[in-house]
Amino acid sequence: DDFDFLTARAPVVTIMGHVDHGKTSLLDYIHKSKVAAGEAGGITQGIGAYQVSTMVGDEEKEITFLDTPGHEAFSAMRARGARVTDIAIIIVAADDGMRPQTEEAVSHARAADVPIIVAVNKIDKEGANPDRVRDEMSRIGVISEEWGGDIPFMPISAKTGEGIDDLLETISLTAELCELVANPDREAQGTVIEAFLDKQRGPMATVLVQAGTLRIGDAIQIGGIYGKVRAMEDSQGTKIDEAGPSVPVQIMGLNGVPIAGEEFTVFASDTMAREKAEKVQEE
Ligand code: GTP
Ligand code: NA
Ligand code: MG
Repeated sequence: DDFDFLTARAPVVTIMGHVDHGKTSLLDYIHKSKVAAGEAGGITQGIGAYQVSTMVGDEEKEITFLDTPGHEAFSAMRARGARVTDIAIIIVAADDGMRPQTEEAVSHARAADVPIIVAVNKIDKEGANPDRVRDEMSRIGVISEEWGGDIPFMPISAKTGEGIDDLLETISLTAELCELVANPDREAQGTVIEAFLDKQRGPMATVLVQAGTLRIGDAIQIGGIYGKVRAMEDSQGTKIDEAGPSVPVQIMGLNGVPIAGEEFTVFASDTMAREKAEKVQEE
């Protein structure tokens, strides 16, 4: 049965936090420092999600980051019952402290029942006070390991890069405890992260593969939309032929633009995918 084929997959990580606390800066820093220099030219095509390789001890580990505004991603996905995130990074600027959207982010993570890691950002700044962040967060029950709780608080600077390797290592260790697995040997299934209409190429969708392996030529259905995967690109804009669990890819070949949070399914034939889409449209 399915259990025989389960293999380890990369963690999917979302970064959330108050406005201007450094979500985009952190992702940018990780992207720039961890994506091979030779591939950097492709980054500008960024597809809203990407995978990085990072060394933890002497092991190379993959981590998938969702590069969408955390709250919107969480809300859109949750509204559709989709579950894409394995780990939530709550980022808090050390010179500003806990703010309303920080608390909201904690609520989102708790509702999704995923482990939380607090990234205490901007420690390079004058007035940065990580202990104040620990104190404020403890009042909503987010208690740091140093203070006897079980939440890692990682001091970082998205500007200088200080602490970011430690953060990535903590993400990997947290992921190991989650024992994240999936079966790559089945028809692909997953969730739409974002989608848009490209004037030249038609509907484009960034999807996260959550089970199975998505391949060029696959017959795919997303809600009332269907198509055949005609081309795939990874998060560096490189053309690829297949994508396994936890891999975000941009696909081409749909007959319409799907909505973030919708689930995609691969069918054995084009006819089956079309019939399923038509059935959904009728509902
Ligand atoms: P929104 O997407 O608007 O919610 O903001 P954000 O959380 O993505 O924050 P963003 O990365 O845009 O950073 C806001 C500002 O803080 C920018 O001017 C960054 O350059 C600055 N900033 C982010 N991280 C750091 C840091 O570690 N140190 C310093 N000194 N500045 C930082
Ligand atoms: Na900002
Ligand atoms: Mg931002």
